[in-house]
Amino acid sequence: MIHKRSDFPDGFLFGAATSAYQIEGHKFGGAGRAMWDDFAATPGNVVRAEDGALACDHYHRYGADLDLLKDAGFDAYRFSTSWARVMPDGRNVNPEGLDFYDRLTDGMLERGLKPCATLYHWELPSALADQGGWRNRDIAGWFGDFTGAVMERLGDRMYSVATINEFWCVSWLSHFLGHHAPGLRDIRATARAMHHVLLAHGTSIERMRGLGVQNLGAVFNMEWAAPADDSPEAAEAAALYDDIYNHFFVSGAFKGTYPDRLVTALGDHFPEGWQDDMATISAPLDWAGINYYTRSLLAADDGPWPHLRAVEGPLEKTQMGWEIYPKGLHDFLVRTAREYTGDLPIYVTENGMSNADTVVNGAVDDAARIAYFNSHLSAVRNAIGKGVPVKGYMAWSLLDNYEWALGYEKRFGMVHVDFETLERIPKASWHAFKQMLAG
Ligand code: FCB
Repeated sequence: MIHKRSDFPDGFLFGAATSAYQIEGHKFGGAGRAMWDDFAATPGNVVRAEDGALACDHYHRYGADLDLLKDAGFDAYRFSTSWARVMPDGRNVNPEGLDFYDRLTDGMLERGLKPCATLYHWELPSALADQGGWRNRDIAGWFGDFTGAVMERLGDRMYSVATINEFWCVSWLSHFLGHHAPGLRDIRATARAMHHVLLAHGTSIERMRGLGVQNLGAVFNMEWAAPADDSPEAAEAAALYDDIYNHFFVSGAFKGTYPDRLVTALGDHFPEGWQDDMATISAPLDWAGINYYTRSLLAADDGPWPHLRAVEGPLEKTQMGWEIYPKGLHDFLVRTAREYTGDLPIYVTENGMSNADTVVNGAVDDAARIAYFNSHLSAVRNAIGKGVPVKGYMAWSLLDNYEWALGYEKRFGMVHVDFETLERIPKASWHAFKQMLAG
């Protein structure tokens, strides 16, 4: 890598991120059915109808996986606590589930790794999906209770806790575009999910404050939105996309307001009295997390609202077909601090690329991933140079894993996983991080 640890401020945290359903193996340990099991079992939703039943078998191999983090010299590990594992029916605790996260936490602490928990990374119990899932306002209370169950057990040992991973994915991607579970394409369901996911977040924060849990935040995904051409229509499409994707959730959480044009377009679909929830939604936070991968080019479209469509861009792309655009990360860090979070610490909670990695003579040369990390770490350094309080960077991901609707085919790991034998092989990018973190 072109960077060294010493190029970053003292105490800057380097970590790697994963999530429960993507790596653990959901058939183990008494976990309940999650909505991703149902989504994957429905033809046409997921490549080869793959699911997270076995995944990387991290449930049994977590010790060796934590060793990989420690041996590379990482400071922190961002993991998630599966709701369906901890509460198989969404409401009652499975002691085995909490025991697993207890062992995992101790495993991190024994290795000197800072535990950075994310409470919800999409493992909604099917039993709650049956009751409307994110469309049902009661989910705020259910999520509060799940928060309590997890944090009464783990809260005193966490370095940081995030409530929700990627509000846009939980609501828009899953209820409007239908690409993720529960696979709805319904504007009213979307508007309700957008509001309820924020209400659940705020309720969870209040619950954790009551328990004395420290260092609370949330993780927002952002995708730079640029007009596809010079027309005013394309500029309008990009601005609307930017509001939906990059402003709505962060504005709710940090300002207690929603962008005007989204209140106009979606307000009739929000639950009655939604304005009264904004105080809970904007409960004070200690930090913000940004997940960043790419940008989109937007053009106007004749269809119904939001009258826009994404257009393929000219930049070099990853295996996902996502354009590589590190400047977007810099610009989001600067903009988020300026418009929303001020002096609060910002963490890059996910960043990385999928690559068609192959094992050759027992090694994986993922030079493209090293270049991706390099260019995005440069973007982080530029933002820090401008005074943005970026306090850490988490690479996505430690392991190749279950990439949701794309199954096991897209590899994001710094460590290669053979999904037949479950053997782990650190890739060149893992070795590059190790060298970087020692310098
Ligand atoms: C993010 C998700 C994460 C992973 C990466 C590639 O949107 O948080 O689980 O799928 O994308």
